[in-house]
Amino acid sequence: MSVLEAHEVTKSFGGTEAVLRGISLHVEPGELVSIVGPSGSGKSTLLYCLAGLEAVTSGTVSILGTPLAGLGRRRLAAFRRDHVGFVFQSYNLITSLTVWDNVALPARLARRPIGADEVAAAIERVGLSDRARYKPAQLSGGQQQRVAVARVLATRPDLVFADEPTGALDTAKGDAVLRLLREAATGDRSVVMVTHDLEAAARGDRVLVLRDGRLHAELHHPTPAEVLAAVGAASEAV
Ligand SMILES: Nc1ncnc2c1ncn2[C@@H]1O[C@H](COP(=O)(O)OP(=O)(O)O)[C@@H](O)[C@H]1O
Ligand SMILES: [Mg+2]
Repeated sequence: MSVLEAHEVTKSFGGTEAVLRGISLHVEPGELVSIVGPSGSGKSTLLYCLAGLEAVTSGTVSILGTPLAGLGRRRLAAFRRDHVGFVFQSYNLITSLTVWDNVALPARLARRPIGADEVAAAIERVGLSDRARYKPAQLSGGQQQRVAVARVLATRPDLVFADEPTGALDTAKGDAVLRLLREAATGDRSVVMVTHDLEAAARGDRVLVLRDGRLHAELHHPTPAEVLAAVGAASEAV
């Protein structure tokens, strides 16, 4: 069974032209799938729709065989809590909580309490052990981004979505985060990552190129140069 299946997904925000115009894709167990495309092409909107954070206008999204549209609001929230992790472009950390509590919270909410050793390990893996007692406002953007990644990794969801997870990071730290996401896509667990960094995208098992609300190309284990060529073609064709 696919971890994620989307069929002919469209999304409009009322009035204007549709942002997503018929997207079908699937994500298999253990896969890391990258999504690239020009700015404004609908990458974040697509991730939100796939994660059930935005309702689709038409089409269907199923996670682990469960159609999201069939779940009511509360069951959808519970389903997301139990199966889905999201690394937001804007980090979405809870400002009143420390790094430690931000990382520990989702597992606690999912009634899958994790031990202090696991929280410590997740924070250590993103290189923030010395900041565990800090609050988000006391951290740089890049550090907050790494907390957001640690939070998702600690919870070990079946499906992780990450929106520009290396956007605020220098090359070395971005590399470390990509390695963690690569490791998180293992066994039955999968990762879908949006990025404008073509080297990062090329770490994926598959790279999907979004253009103008449609999937323009799908590359299997491409080199960064092949991703660049596909994105270039997508941009020129707009
Ligand atoms: N909540 C929203 N309401 C109206 N328009 C939106 C909303 N979210 C995104 N859009 C529009 O959808 C388009 C794609 O945005 P987005 O998905 O953020 O693109 P990307 O992540 O590829 O840069 C943009 O034109 C943006 O203005
Ligand atoms: Mg975006």
